[in-house]
Amino acid sequence: MTASTPLSQDELKTLVGQAALQYVVPGELVGVGTGSTVNKFIEALASIKDSIRGAVSSSEASTVRLKALGIPVLDANQVRSLSVYIDGADEIDGRGYMVKGGGAALTREKIVAALAHNFVCIADESKRVDVLGAFPLPVEVIPMAAAHIARRFELLGGQATLRLKDGRPLVTDNGQHILDVRGLRITDPLALESEVNQWPGVVTVGVFAHHKASVCLLGTRQGVKTLTY
Ligand code: A5P
Repeated sequence: MTASTPLSQDELKTLVGQAALQYVVPGELVGVGTGSTVNKFIEALASIKDSIRGAVSSSEASTVRLKALGIPVLDANQVRSLSVYIDGADEIDGRGYMVKGGGAALTREKIVAALAHNFVCIADESKRVDVLGAFPLPVEVIPMAAAHIARRFELLGGQATLRLKDGRPLVTDNGQHILDVRGLRITDPLALESEVNQWPGVVTVGVFAHHKASVCLLGTRQGVKTLTY
């Protein structure tokens, strides 16, 4: 690679995954998210695994990766709090509010984020948006409520579709389904998260506003930018 070759999206993910190591506190547990960017962080974490107690994971997929690298994984119920949670995002706005759940792990991500004092978002620059909503909003739902919840989103101007895998409804780690909602312009993420979360049958809405990022390590062509909120 020459000096002028722009970094690929994969290389930007590697950069921010490595940069996140500076937020891992020696001797403590770290909260670990889910997705292709976090997979880079997990690879980097393996290089300092002897200096941490272990991880609390937000998905079966991340747990498998962590354990394969010899990093102990603790159940969230064994943990009172975490100093930091490190995770990617599908979108992040200028205030640190995010849309997450493209990998269907949003509920456990929100649970682990809730345990943490700081949420460090790691993302390449394609994730930075002015207004959330261009990425279809993931919502984990109890299957019998899916059609009713889809109709409620219609009233907000959204079109919800059931996420499929191999032609069948995708089943989350929690045994539930995912609706992806297109057409929303999320100008008030706090209000939307609060409203949708109290609809019967909603397990978790993929707006992360009440547990927003405190820091974003954004991978850009000019290097890793640290954004704080
Ligand atoms: C997983 O459910 C998501 O919330 C991920 O954090 C998000 O989809 C980002 O994933 P990538 O790092 O693969 O883009």
